[in-house]
Amino acid sequence: MSNEIVVGRLKEDLEKFGTEATAYLGKHIIGQGEEAHLANKILMDLLRPHLILICGKRGTGKSYFGGVIAEEIALLPEKHRKNLTTVLIDTMGIYWSMKLPNEEQVVLLDEWGLKPIGLKDKVKVYVPFQQKKDYEAAGIPVDFGISVPPYAFSAEEWSIAFNLPQTNPLSIGLQKTVNYLKKRDEKFSIDDLISTIKDDTSLDTHVKSSLESMLTVADSWGVFGEEGVKTEEVMKPGMINVFDVSRLRSSEAWSVRNLLVALIAKDIYYKRVLARKQEELARVGEIKLKERFPMVWLIIDEAHNFVPSGFDTVSTAPLLTIVKQGREPGISLVPMTQMPNKIHPEVVSQADMVISHRLTAKSDLDALHATMQTYLMEDVWRYIQSLPKWRGSSIILDDNSERIFQMQTRPRLTWHAGESAIAVNP
Ligand SMILES: Nc1ncnc2c1ncn2[C@@H]1O[C@H](COP(=O)(O)OP(=O)(O)OP(=O)(O)O)[C@@H](O)[C@H]1O
Ligand SMILES: [Mg+2]
Repeated sequence: MSNEIVVGRLKEDLEKFGTEATAYLGKHIIGQGEEAHLANKILMDLLRPHLILICGKRGTGKSYFGGVIAEEIALLPEKHRKNLTTVLIDTMGIYWSMKLPNEEQVVLLDEWGLKPIGLKDKVKVYVPFQQKKDYEAAGIPVDFGISVPPYAFSAEEWSIAFNLPQTNPLSIGLQKTVNYLKKRDEKFSIDDLISTIKDDTSLDTHVKSSLESMLTVADSWGVFGEEGVKTEEVMKPGMINVFDVSRLRSSEAWSVRNLLVALIAKDIYYKRVLARKQEELARVGEIKLKERFPMVWLIIDEAHNFVPSGFDTVSTAPLLTIVKQGREPGISLVPMTQMPNKIHPEVVSQADMVISHRLTAKSDLDALHATMQTYLMEDVWRYIQSLPKWRGSSIILDDNSERIFQMQTRPRLTWHAGESAIAVNP
């Protein structure tokens, strides 16, 4: 009998598969203060879909941990890896460096009996197509330029993307135009939207000019284009697909990020629902299963910006669909946030695991409690309070076993570019 702790795995899966297809997250911390030391390995289930909320104060190791999950999936044996792919929404521009080995922490890795590994061939970096050159000039390797096709969104989504209340005259005008173009033709550009608005005699001149300038600004964001993201061509099994949305400079940066995430989330959901049907048909012998869209681990940094609490963004509905219905088509979601009270309460309450690094705000702790009602708040608080002050220490709340563990995240094999700035020359 091994002494590893397995979190997130069903009892029957544990009996059947043991520790097969698990992610090595870190080690159990035993004892407190000076006495604290590392004990058994903590492994996490990768056989089934999960919703794992990662939280903690600034600089406590959230983004680093997101990378650990991605590494573990990419390094699974072929048998399991071939069914999974990782999508990382990178708001800080820190995950491209997973292509390189973690030479910076060799000593630490050595203490853990691990070695640096670069995942050059497995990490694919996507950036908005108009920024591809800027990234390359900065020496950041980019694999694909992506764009957002205007026709991929419904009239209502357009209003949300521009933050327009449904009853606003601009919203009504915009929705009318989008619906008209959608009926007329399958594909349309921002230019088509603008010229249709110009030609529409029923629109008020003020509405027309406001919509025109709004859409012209949107065009200058540099993300709208025909191509979209050909996910089925690029999201191959075992890959880490990094969507770097960090370098959007406009004041509308979040609207653009939200549009991109909405596009990706909708696409993944749709593709997986189809793939799931094929898998079912293959199971009953109706068809022979060929290569299909793999199950997805969608890891989102600073997730409170994409599914915020209190108001909707254009990515809210697609992400909530994954939250509520992602299990069946096999989509896992890993939202990371500094502030669990700023993320949509549905995301928090549906989480089947919470990994919380240090948190101090009472509102954040209260938000966590909403997820894990089975735990006594005092216990959660005590476990967080008594975490050693090492970077990468956290508590895991596992809904499956209804247990709490203190954990030290294992060092990353790939390089983590998220080190905080230091006021000396490198
Ligand atoms: N498990 C770990 N082992 C070793 N070092 C770690 C570990 N976790 C984090 N670190 C170090 O701490 C730094 C900060 O971690 P990270 O970037 O993940 O913070 P964060 O919680 O995402 O912060 P922010 O909220 O500001 O984005 C990293 O650059 C890394 O060097
Ligand atoms: Mg971070």
